[in-house]
Amino acid sequence: MSNLLQELEQLYQDASAALDGCQTLEETEAWHAAYLGRKGAVTAIVRGVGQLPREERPAFGKRANEIKVTLEAALRGRQERVALAEMEQALSAEGIDVTLPGRPQQIGKLHPTTVALREIVDIFTQMGFEVFDAREVETDELNFELLNFPPGHPAREMQDSFYTDTEDVILRTHTSPGQIHAMRKYAPEPIRVILPGKCYRNEDVTARSEMMFYQVEGLVVGRNVTFSDLKGVLLNYANQMYGEGRKIRFRKSYFPFTEPSVEVDVDCILCGGEGCRVCKYTGWLEILGAGMVHPVVLRNGGYDPAEFSGFAFGMGIERQAMNKYSIDDIRYFYENDARFLERVG
Ligand code: DAH
Repeated sequence: MSNLLQELEQLYQDASAALDGCQTLEETEAWHAAYLGRKGAVTAIVRGVGQLPREERPAFGKRANEIKVTLEAALRGRQERVALAEMEQALSAEGIDVTLPGRPQQIGKLHPTTVALREIVDIFTQMGFEVFDAREVETDELNFELLNFPPGHPAREMQDSFYTDTEDVILRTHTSPGQIHAMRKYAPEPIRVILPGKCYRNEDVTARSEMMFYQVEGLVVGRNVTFSDLKGVLLNYANQMYGEGRKIRFRKSYFPFTEPSVEVDVDCILCGGEGCRVCKYTGWLEILGAGMVHPVVLRNGGYDPAEFSGFAFGMGIERQAMNKYSIDDIRYFYENDARFLERVG
């Protein structure tokens, strides 16, 4: 073997070993310049072919060409591996593991009061009720007098009011004054409305009562509206809100604006009436107050009680949610604790 060919074979060995040692793309580029580039060692030897005797040149040329092609292919392979390794290293240095499943996003939810309100509105609109909006700031006249609370009547004390700077203007203590607004708007046409909204009472905040809360009032007035209609509507409501097969019970009660007046309970949805912690071992959960619209109230609304009758009901929206989701403290609704907001609805 000629010296030149031996040199070439040795260079091939060295170049291969040097390529295996390249750890970065930069190093592979330097390697290319050192061996295969215009001034590279392999190129230089190949140029020396002229020193060889004529008959040795073809074999040398053939071998030199093989070595160049092999080294070029080895360079490309090396560069791919190095690029991959560099990428993997960059990824792990950034702490990104692309094989991990994505982290779920926290998605907002409707407030439990909104969930309950929408359910209530859906149930009653299916029964043909329309939503009627009434104001939150009321006069003493609408909040009490026209609803048949005479001045000084002790029932006013059940609903301690927030007063404003303007005399006789208060924050409504219940949605019932909306009954008067609705009747005065529609009389003498028959009406079937629900009135959802915020109410305010100047009360101590406890597990059972907040200063601000939501109610939905219902009002039906027509020529032949009876107590059976009231029962049918409320039984249907209870079955849709609390589940098929629910029972309701009426207890006699007193409200100045209805006669007779009742409080309505549904059988406990947790124990089905057996008695448990949620229903305080009574088997029943209170859902609302109701009754036949008092003749004085009908007249104040513009209806002649000799011709018209009506029923009304009023429910706390938080109370419905508390019954349905076994929540034992109304204060949760106003604390904005995400654990509570996530649990319900
Ligand atoms: N307004 C009453 C309250 O806040 C609830 C109520 C009871 C409304 C009987 C009614 C009704 O319409 O008929 O305690």
